[in-house]
Amino acid sequence: MCGIVGYTGKKQAKSILLSGLDILEYRGYDSAGICIEENGAFALCKASGKLERLREKSQNHVFSGTCGIGHTRWATHGAPTEENAHPHLSSDGSFSVVHNGIVENAEALRAMLKEHGFSFRSDTDTEVVPQLMQYFYRGNVQEAFLKTVKMLSGSYALGAMSTYEPGKIFAAARESPLLVAKGADRCFVASDAMAFPLEDLQIYSVEAGELAVLSKNGVLFQNTDGEAITKQPIQVERECIQHDKSGYDFFMLKEIMEQPAILAKLAQTDMGKLSLSDELVQSVRCVHIIACGSAYHAGLAGKRFLESLAGVPTFVEMASEFRYRSPILEKGDLVIAVSQSGETADTIAAFRYAKEKGAATLSVVNVLGSTLAREADGVLYTDAGPEIAVATTKAYTAQVLVLYQLSLHLAEKRGRISLEESQKLKEKMKKLPQKAEKVVKQAEEIRKISEEIKNVNHIFFIGRGADADTAAEGALKLKEITYIHAEAYAAGELKHGTISLMEEGTPVIAIATQKALYDKMRSNIQEVKARGARVYAFTPDAQIAREADYALYLPDTDEHLGSVLAAVSLQLLSYYTAIGKGLDADKPRNLAKSVTVE
Ligand code: M6R
Repeated sequence: MCGIVGYTGKKQAKSILLSGLDILEYRGYDSAGICIEENGAFALCKASGKLERLREKSQNHVFSGTCGIGHTRWATHGAPTEENAHPHLSSDGSFSVVHNGIVENAEALRAMLKEHGFSFRSDTDTEVVPQLMQYFYRGNVQEAFLKTVKMLSGSYALGAMSTYEPGKIFAAARESPLLVAKGADRCFVASDAMAFPLEDLQIYSVEAGELAVLSKNGVLFQNTDGEAITKQPIQVERECIQHDKSGYDFFMLKEIMEQPAILAKLAQTDMGKLSLSDELVQSVRCVHIIACGSAYHAGLAGKRFLESLAGVPTFVEMASEFRYRSPILEKGDLVIAVSQSGETADTIAAFRYAKEKGAATLSVVNVLGSTLAREADGVLYTDAGPEIAVATTKAYTAQVLVLYQLSLHLAEKRGRISLEESQKLKEKMKKLPQKAEKVVKQAEEIRKISEEIKNVNHIFFIGRGADADTAAEGALKLKEITYIHAEAYAAGELKHGTISLMEEGTPVIAIATQKALYDKMRSNIQEVKARGARVYAFTPDAQIAREADYALYLPDTDEHLGSVLAAVSLQLLSYYTAIGKGLDADKPRNLAKSVTVE
């Protein structure tokens, strides 16, 4: 989703801004721009499409200035055109702004500004921000910025500059992540810590109700009454991700292949360090897991573990829906937010709502120091390392494994299973990484299946029990990066409607890793075959494999974790299908890695 970078210091800003934007590219965008202050005016360069176009266009100008802001835009208000790309300038050209989020009262503000003679160049909600700064400016940029911010409803992360006060960047945020970093003789602002250069920096998060003023001499924080405030730097993950595909063609493949090692590391995690009190762990009445997309699917797996192992009733909620159905939250409820980025706007909004209602909170996140990590009572890191491909792979399986371990921990602490039993399950879990290794070694087999399905328009994923959840994840992954319409169905539900869609040649991916459900799955496979479906079975079971038209043998494992192995194989299937279609597996159309708007 949109990304912000800003720099003020002694060096020329252009290449620093472009490098920052390069790194933010993985978040997803459809236009980009930079604005650099030069001799009392702004030099602006914007382009729709990929960053290469911005780079090319920016060659036409020298850009000697040392203070600037840049942006990658993921269109919400207005098409992804050059006019709508950020930075946006005020009518008189003296204020320049980049923005992430949505100004929900933009229409009313536009109308008000138009009455005062302002005209607009873009269709964006953002353009009201520099215009308001111009409107409020009475000789003090900071005051104009503060007054502007107070007018905005909705979510925002803002970086602003003015020709009236060269060398300064003004930053503010509400419900949208924004970080500032202070180095020697320079300051940076960015929506993602990865965009900061890998040098010694003190990093601060800009919170709601705060304003940061950056200059080459440092950063000053104030509250909305203009009073100075002192902030502590935060710990965030910063790794050089830019070109590190480790020899793979795409980050997605690299990240899939990293899974055995990540699962091995996680299998050693000591849940005893869980920062929730023993009292809470023992008294939890029920769990609400809130998450979006694949993280929601990991939550479904978590529900099965928490209920079957720990005996804790668990509800899994799409974070985007959670607040709109008056959820019942009572004392003793634990809300678990699951998120790779820790910055998903829907998940954060649902999480904050639950906190306000007094629920205890835990987050299962991948990105160190992200909003969900900072705001929760307890954090479990998935420790999968930076995930760059838009389609999540390693973070998803890591989420599932962490939720499994959490469930084992709760089961032990609440006396639901003996230490001996728990130990046995842990031993089996420790074998998961080597089994995942076997799955990734079947890449060529999986690629062959992808050849068969790459030209279909529709495909079904079916499974029972935990495999039904994995089917949902497999279908999401395929849709996301191959643009093939995929539908996931609990296999037993097919006969209640969807089976009417089966006809000669309909491709069906049947996932069967749950021994107790093999017989039932076989019946469901027979049902679709009888109607002409072509079945691809992903299973350790020889009999199911024989009944399918094509089988991928999965390693046999503990009933709780078999679906993790199936998920890895389905990730590879999506990847090879996308490659077979000549698509960019890392950056699917219309999607963003970190979805920071609701
Ligand atoms: O960062 P999060 O885990 O909170 O992201 C949630 C979803 O947007 C994400 O899982 C999305 O569904 C993936 N792109 C799917 O591969």
